Amino acid sequence: MSSEETREVRIADYRPSDFLIDSVTLEINLADHDTRIHSTLLVRRNPQGRGGALVLDGDELQLTSILLDGQPLAKDRYEALPEQLTFFSPPEGPFRLDIHTVLDPTANTKLMGLYRSGSAYCTQCEPEGFRRITYFLDRPDVMSVYTVRLEADQEEAPVLLANGNPVESGVVSATGRHFAVWHDPFPKPSYLFALVGGRLDVLADEFITMSGRRIALGIYVEPGKAERAYYAMDALKRSMRWDETAFGREYDLDVFNIVAVSDFNMGAMENKGLNIFNDKYVLASSETATDADYAGIESVIAHEYFHNWTGNRITCRDWFQLCLKEGLTVFRDQEFSSDERSRPVKRIADVRTLRAHQFPEDAGPLAHPVRPETYREINNFYTATIYEKGAEVIRMLKRMIGDQTFRSGMDLYFERHDGDATTIEAFIACFAEASGLDLTEFMLWYAQAGTPHLKIVDHYDHASQQLRLEIKQSIPPTPGQPAKKPMPMPLALGILDEDGKEMPLVLSDGSRLPNDVLIIDQQQQTYVFQGITSQPTLSLNRGFSAPIRISSDLTDDDLLFLAQHDQDPFNRWEAIQKSALRLLVNSVAALRSDGQAFPNDRLAEALRATLADPTLEHAFIAQALTLPGETEVALEIGQDVDPDAIHHAVNALKRSVGSILKPQANGIYLKLATKESFQPDAASAGKRALCGVLLGYLTCDGDDPSARLAEAHYHGATNMTDRIQGLAALSRISDDRREKAFAGFKQRYATEVLALDKWLSIQAAIPETATLDRVRRLMDDSAFSLNNPNRIRSLIGSFSSANPTQFHRADGAGYRFVAEIVETLDPLNPQVAARLLTAFRSWRTLESERRNHAEAALRQIGAKKTLSTDVSDILLRTLA
Ligand code: TRP
Ligand code: ZN
Repeated sequence: MSSEETREVRIADYRPSDFLIDSVTLEINLADHDTRIHSTLLVRRNPQGRGGALVLDGDELQLTSILLDGQPLAKDRYEALPEQLTFFSPPEGPFRLDIHTVLDPTANTKLMGLYRSGSAYCTQCEPEGFRRITYFLDRPDVMSVYTVRLEADQEEAPVLLANGNPVESGVVSATGRHFAVWHDPFPKPSYLFALVGGRLDVLADEFITMSGRRIALGIYVEPGKAERAYYAMDALKRSMRWDETAFGREYDLDVFNIVAVSDFNMGAMENKGLNIFNDKYVLASSETATDADYAGIESVIAHEYFHNWTGNRITCRDWFQLCLKEGLTVFRDQEFSSDERSRPVKRIADVRTLRAHQFPEDAGPLAHPVRPETYREINNFYTATIYEKGAEVIRMLKRMIGDQTFRSGMDLYFERHDGDATTIEAFIACFAEASGLDLTEFMLWYAQAGTPHLKIVDHYDHASQQLRLEIKQSIPPTPGQPAKKPMPMPLALGILDEDGKEMPLVLSDGSRLPNDVLIIDQQQQTYVFQGITSQPTLSLNRGFSAPIRISSDLTDDDLLFLAQHDQDPFNRWEAIQKSALRLLVNSVAALRSDGQAFPNDRLAEALRATLADPTLEHAFIAQALTLPGETEVALEIGQDVDPDAIHHAVNALKRSVGSILKPQANGIYLKLATKESFQPDAASAGKRALCGVLLGYLTCDGDDPSARLAEAHYHGATNMTDRIQGLAALSRISDDRREKAFAGFKQRYATEVLALDKWLSIQAAIPETATLDRVRRLMDDSAFSLNNPNRIRSLIGSFSSANPTQFHRADGAGYRFVAEIVETLDPLNPQVAARLLTAFRSWRTLESERRNHAEAALRQIGAKKTLSTDVSDILLRTLA
């Protein structure tokens, strides 16, 4: 590892910038190898600053000249390094700096700053990419008004876009090149700057806002693909309307543009008025995109649009406050999708994601608070904890203060902080004020890492008709840190009588429990309910009202009872999951001692009843029939984990449930598999989802009839969702029908890279020993490239995070392979390399042989002389 350890940035060291930049004018001359940037800054001292030198951030920059108020700046008055420009004694009063730099966008493989994607030029500035374009105070609390003049070759880049509204465009007569000027009247931090230049097609539309303003909308895509942006455009207009009705938020510029690019490190970016997207979250057709892709597009389009108020109009003071915009905006996009689709199904899907990604993160060496207090590399903090747990914290707040008070708090936040770069404290203060509550303890959710645990013991006394609940809260300790304090959380609950009917929640003092929610805020609390006339069954944490783990006295009987009777659909699903998880954990233990899996006919019976219930939505049934994943079982086991045993237990359970479900599943499958023309709406998608889950059960034996059914499903498909279901089912059956299907798919989608991503990831997830060699071979396939993040995530990411038995091969070859890729990728794209490396985060929970192999692979990476701060940060924390 690099000898000079990277410094830590601490929230405690925050101080306001010594200088402010009120306005920025950028003149950018786009060229493939030497793009020239002329930046004009109006600078003044910050009354809250300390004075001294002006130190501007840079990253791999090359200065060509610098002028102070129009005059060349004397050489001894400044020092220009690639990573910093220091102006030693700047004037006391306001001054103008003209800074000329030159850069090579084609050589930029990190995809941060100004780079090329295909033939287009584009930018990514969050969090610290703007300093790769020009020297600047590249921190979110320095906000400026930007005017941007772009110039380019007309043939190469007929489309020139930047933030804000278009001002002027034309041709430079001397050179024949053309230009466009954009002006953004809203002061913004540099991370929201964006430009795009290229040969692109546009899907144009418009939106009339609630006050009657006409907004021109454009989605820019690769030539020939505009018709694949219709769904994204529809999602955008629905998002704009929803933000008006749900939060009273109107759009503010005259234009709103989205550009889809094929090389992008993350999902998308909320640049003011010019969102830039990973094209997988824009482009969709029934032939190339699955229902999951459509749902992803809808939520990411909404997410980036909603940032206009939660992120852009009100931004973060510093990067420690990242959850101020991300947690809140995820909460908003989740609510949008819940309103547009099925609320219970959306909640189930979100909790699945939380448990699959955030819970393991929170339980391992990369755990951090929703608002971290130190970081070495901010790129590594775009995590499930900041995003998903951050959203859960907002959801709890809403539950605790009520819908209306929550809305008043949001209104107050928008009114009070519009135009600010602010903090979590300022945000929470709005809700304290709106509710009249003291939220000091609630702030602990932002400061303490780890998933809280509630131990709930219940005691029913038939004679007095009283039910007593004893609730104990604990939070897993972080080594070397003080003991954690209990945090306030809303625990929604219900009490069911013997027939499954709800009993009223009346406390021992005769009062009715407000909103059916217990506020748990002590290490230990006791509640007594009265008037409980028959043996009760507890439905706890309804709707997953708190993002926690619970252990209770619920028996398997209780769970299966809840699975059929709970009025809360989330907890009906949850009861099945819990019961399956228990079975699986016991099965794994049994498999490792005497080789026998556990009996499960009662779970299968509950699933059969769920499948037969005509009152349930298809999508809900699909979720109920989807058993917990292998990572979830591993997390539950927590130590001495053997991924092979888990895999066998999950498979055995699937087979035996499948054998019981088969007759019924077959009939429903046939009914659902009838071909309708493809519609991407939630109800149609739900049918397809259930059909796919049933296909999984009907083919899990892997015998000849299974293969024939999977093949028929694959070949009979008239849309991508069905086709991928068929291919995934076939991929589990190792015979040459599978290989033929893979070859056929490759041919069919030879020029559709997003479709080939699915082809890569299904192959990388095959749970058999030959997969590692297959993945190595696929790296040489024309469909793969180490320069494209989507390709890497599809092939390598799928292998490391969706194929537990092969990544965790007992011989360590899976770890060594991923470690090698991390080393190779690091110099090219450190951000993506670091993300891949997080696959090792649970290595300490593995059984000893694998643990040793994983540690050796990690230390192998650490032995490299030069590593990026991104990779060395993850490595240091993972090994700590
Ligand atoms: N702010 C973006 C979002 O959540 C995240 C993002 C996009 C990002 N690109 C990035 C973060 C590059 C870090 C680096 O909507
Ligand atoms: Zn975001």
